[in-house]
Amino acid sequence: MKLGIVGTGNVAYRHFEEFSKIDGVKVEAVCDVNLKNLNLFTEKFGNHLRKYSSIDEMLKEEKNFDGICNNTPDRFHKEVSLKILEKEINIFSEKPLAENYEDAKILTDLAHKRNVINMVNFTYRESSGYQKLVETIKSDTLGSIKHVNANYYQSWLTSNLWGNWKEEDTWLWRLSTAHGSNGALGDTGVHIFDFTINAVGDIQQICANLKTYQEKGDKIGEYTLDANDGFTSMVKFSNGAIGTISNTRYATGYANTLMLEVFCEKGAVKVEFDAERDNKWSTLHICENKNIDEAKWEKIICESTPTNFERFIKSIKSGENDQPDFQQGAKVQKILDMCIKSNDKNQWVDIN
Ligand SMILES: NC(=O)c1ccc[n+]([C@@H]2O[C@H](COP(=O)([O-])OP(=O)(O)OC[C@H]3O[C@@H](n4cnc5c(N)ncnc54)[C@H](O)[C@@H]3O)[C@@H](O)[C@H]2O)c1
Repeated sequence: MKLGIVGTGNVAYRHFEEFSKIDGVKVEAVCDVNLKNLNLFTEKFGNHLRKYSSIDEMLKEEKNFDGICNNTPDRFHKEVSLKILEKEINIFSEKPLAENYEDAKILTDLAHKRNVINMVNFTYRESSGYQKLVETIKSDTLGSIKHVNANYYQSWLTSNLWGNWKEEDTWLWRLSTAHGSNGALGDTGVHIFDFTINAVGDIQQICANLKTYQEKGDKIGEYTLDANDGFTSMVKFSNGAIGTISNTRYATGYANTLMLEVFCEKGAVKVEFDAERDNKWSTLHICENKNIDEAKWEKIICESTPTNFERFIKSIKSGENDQPDFQQGAKVQKILDMCIKSNDKNQWVDIN
């Protein structure tokens, strides 16, 4: 199978490595408007890769792609994805699907019209502990869901763990609305909302509070630091449960932690992972039966679950689109839009 990659920055390295692990799958062509990044990438992964400096050139020269990954910054997702879809090529898009619901819907409709496999890389679906949590909730053994708490913590604004955000473009565009960033909400909030609604069910109403920690007017080079760096939200789910969902880049002491706690009629389940990545974030905690009266949690190590990369390839082979697809990407995008509306109006808003 022949794949292409558009955007050879940070995240593209994992895409290349994960796709290359799959039998019969080969990334053959790569494209980036930044030649330095393009060359760094091919130096690492081999000069046999055919290089292009624009998606138009790549699509013109290359024939018979089985799939293309769109790994460009958020601002370019729509424009690049539209070109891939117009050529009827299966598409693996980085999150967020687009910059707003309207654009996400255009992409979803076109993917359906062109009848191509479409996937959004909601990475944390790859946690086997999380997949077991979803399975446990859906099996209904714990009864109806009452209360939910979900947090996403990163600390790159307070540390040099992933590099110096004040100097590197890969972080600075994430802080600037003019560079197409919806801030923490669009960058990582998108993950925690997917994580939560896929397990718990749809959100009916939300009341969100977005926060930019930089001072108004702060700038570094061409980047105005005006995007939100964190948010808190209260939610009401369609199934009657209530909850809080929050996210910040200012969580000192946490590198990249997602936690989800779901309290049900007959027990509770939770996942919390960070450094556990090499173990595929495989731990689920459950409190049920006689443990309830002792407030004791059982720790379950879960068997691994397919990566999104494997799901994408399997979908191409079978013709059946696995999750997380563009429709889910658009659903999450709607929630992000409603968070912005709620924050601006300072009130609860309906999702639909
Ligand atoms: N799923 C995840 O867990 C995860 C993790 C990190 C990043 N991401 C997403 O991946 C995307 C890229 O993030 P990153 O950290 O790799 O950013 P990055 O800035 O490191 O890399 C983006 C690359 O795209 C290139 N580019 C920009 N416009 C282009 C265009 N029109 N055509 C071709 N190349 C273009 C840039 O030159 C750069 O090399 C973002 O949307 C981000 O939200 C997802």
